[in-house]
Amino acid sequence: MPRYVKFHKKEPLPIEVNDKKIWICMCGLSDKFPYCSGRHKYAKDEEENQVYMYDENYNRKKVKDIIFEKE
Ligand code: FES
Repeated sequence: MPRYVKFHKKEPLPIEVNDKKIWICMCGLSDKFPYCSGRHKYAKDEEENQVYMYDENYNRKKVKDIIFEKE
């Protein structure tokens, strides 16, 4: 089931666990979520305030409008 999840960061968050540094995915594109897999490279040139949609092959489209219905 597709769902809308908003991510706006373009780089991972480095954290330290037991003296080991790990990178948490903040872009939402990782194939090893919640860990960064380097796929944030696809988001690097995103324009500010523009919403994008990515398919399973990391092809990107700009989203013009999102309309939410009340439940
Ligand atoms: S921050 Fe998402 S893949 Fe790196």
